[in-house]
Amino acid sequence: MTGGQLDGIEACVFDAYGTLLDFNSAVMRCRDEIGPDAERLSDIWRQKQLQYTWLWSLMGTHADFWEVTGDALDFALAAIGIENPELRTRLMALYRELDPFSEVTDTLLRLRDAGMRTAILSNGSPEMLQDAAVAAGIEPLLDAILSVEDVGVFKPDFRVYELAVGRLGVARENICFMSSNGWDAAGAGAFGFRVVWVNRYGQPVEHLPARPEVVLDTLLPLPQILGLGTA
Ligand code: LAC
Repeated sequence: MTGGQLDGIEACVFDAYGTLLDFNSAVMRCRDEIGPDAERLSDIWRQKQLQYTWLWSLMGTHADFWEVTGDALDFALAAIGIENPELRTRLMALYRELDPFSEVTDTLLRLRDAGMRTAILSNGSPEMLQDAAVAAGIEPLLDAILSVEDVGVFKPDFRVYELAVGRLGVARENICFMSSNGWDAAGAGAFGFRVVWVNRYGQPVEHLPARPEVVLDTLLPLPQILGLGTA
């Protein structure tokens, strides 16, 4: 962990995929069927999914994250030479019920017990996010599930981060934003959120305009960092 305590926070806003929900869990549940390329498939799927969001946004056009996720999976399956429509259908269904990371439920419970407001702010479409939050058992622990579909553009466009300010009615400097994606952490920091980068994947720091104030391996120390009790 690097960084100190964050004071004056009124709401905790979380990225969904990779931060609360383990996107690798979809492929891992089909690992035996996919074979030795399972990890590579998951990596290409995620990288291509993110690239497509940036490209759609740059082109000034939009497709929702469900469509983008399907397109990225088609690319990834082709890249490793798998043609299997039934597997594709199963992987997409599993994307709607990803495993939460092990400390997520406990951390959200502790934040809520301490009176903190909690929300998801994600590229995901509203239906995907609702299904995933229910499947992960965290839906009752969230005050809001905010989707980029309300602004029709993907992160890190500032209109997305602005959504949380407007919908939660909390000033940007009183919002703590958590993401495992270094680029999302940088975007949120440049927008003016207080940012915790949850570096679950052991990545080097991004060389982008804003650096995260706090870097964690998991969400576990978050309540303590916000002055809400012990880790
Ligand atoms: C999200 C992606 C970026 O949930 O992980 O918005």
